[in-house]
Amino acid sequence: MMSDIKEVLISEEQIQKKVDELADQISRDYRDKHPVLVGVLNGAFVFLADLMRRIDLDCTIDFVAWSSYGKDTSSSGVFRIMKDLETNVESRHVLIVEDIIDTGLTLHYLLDTIRARKPASVKVVALLDKPSRRRIEAKADYLGFQVPDAFVVGYGLDFAQVYRNLPFIGILKPEIYAGRGTPPDELEE
Ligand code: IMP
Ligand code: MG
Repeated sequence: MMSDIKEVLISEEQIQKKVDELADQISRDYRDKHPVLVGVLNGAFVFLADLMRRIDLDCTIDFVAWSSYGKDTSSSGVFRIMKDLETNVESRHVLIVEDIIDTGLTLHYLLDTIRARKPASVKVVALLDKPSRRRIEAKADYLGFQVPDAFVVGYGLDFAQVYRNLPFIGILKPEIYAGRGTPPDELEE
């Protein structure tokens, strides 16, 4: 698996230090609020698991999973909920937990969906942001790292469902996805 990685972009130590900082900030900002942490499956589960164990508050977790119709999913932007929240978020403080904001489409539609349920507040914590690829406005209130326009894997992020268990964020060698008929640009969850 390591031989498929061109470069370690963010080390395990760097990630853990950043997760500590984000959790401290969130613990201060949500004092006495009992937020609902909403993880976006599958990519965000590792980040959510680390983050929640450092948050010093009562909090609830829940998950959503998204899919999209059609092949050119990113540009059509037609999203479908594969797994909805179990929690009624009306009047709750919702904190969406994302692995990476890329085009911004996932976050845009998720925010629309959650806001329609009349929460007390909605904010976003994202481990990574790739602003160069944005197609629609989307912004994290709490952000780990900005990354360049490269396909990254590890710490929950996959290529073709592999590499999620790497403890760091790495850049995949282009020859790994070349010739597999599925350029990362067209991948969704
Ligand atoms: P969006 O383009 O902002 O809607 O991002 C959709 C999803 O694509 C993210 O939540 C990730 O799961 C996935 N994704 C985007 N960029 C990458 C990447 O570089 N590596 C792995 N997954 C990615
Ligand atoms: Mg994701």
